[in-house]
Amino acid sequence: MENFVVTIDGPAGAGKSTVARRVAEALGVFYLDTGAMYRSVGLLAARDGRDPVDVARTLRFEIIYSESGEKRILADGEDVTLKIRTPEADKEVSRVAAIREVRKHLIEKQRFFARGRSIVLEGRDTGSVVFPDARFKFYLDASVEERARRRYDQLVQKTAPPSLEEIEADIIRRDTADKNRPWGALTVPDQAHVVDTTNLTIEEVVEEILSHIKT
Ligand code: DC
Repeated sequence: MENFVVTIDGPAGAGKSTVARRVAEALGVFYLDTGAMYRSVGLLAARDGRDPVDVARTLRFEIIYSESGEKRILADGEDVTLKIRTPEADKEVSRVAAIREVRKHLIEKQRFFARGRSIVLEGRDTGSVVFPDARFKFYLDASVEERARRRYDQLVQKTAPPSLEEIEADIIRRDTADKNRPWGALTVPDQAHVVDTTNLTIEEVVEEILSHIKT
């Protein structure tokens, strides 16, 4: 079977990661969470006081699956799986994702990662910029309120979760940054299937996507 690329873009909290992982599992292909690459650059640059462009240029980004199926993310050999999901990392990432040279280096790595294999990529610009000729393109969206509720449900297990209002404000702040940056701004890619996930379960979204993928 010929190799193919599936791209899934959309705003924060639309359910992209979970959906992309399940779609990739169902198709038996690789899955690349491009947001984790931007998050890794933000973390390493801020923490180590390094130039984000230099971090992006030299980044060794690896996704390792343990025997139990657990995913670990390694950035320059360091396990950053949990460190890139903190509120501080959320703040840093918008800053580095707006830098053109950072995007250029990470896009190169994303294209390299996809060479010679079938893959599902998920992010903000994977169908519009990274793989505009991808065979299957999707854009997941959901209302701000629903996306805030989903994030709240994830965070509520932690000791001091932010309030629903704070999470909603953060989502709006990130949407604005993602949609308005001069390079790689979040947009619906040409010919993408738009899926509004507000009232759908994960399974329903996965089914909807798979129904469009005929390999
Ligand atoms: O999907 P996520 O929340 O992990 O993404 C984190 C940030 O990274 C998001 O605010 C914007 C940025 N990003 C991007 O600019 N381009 C991508 N392809 C993926 C993520």
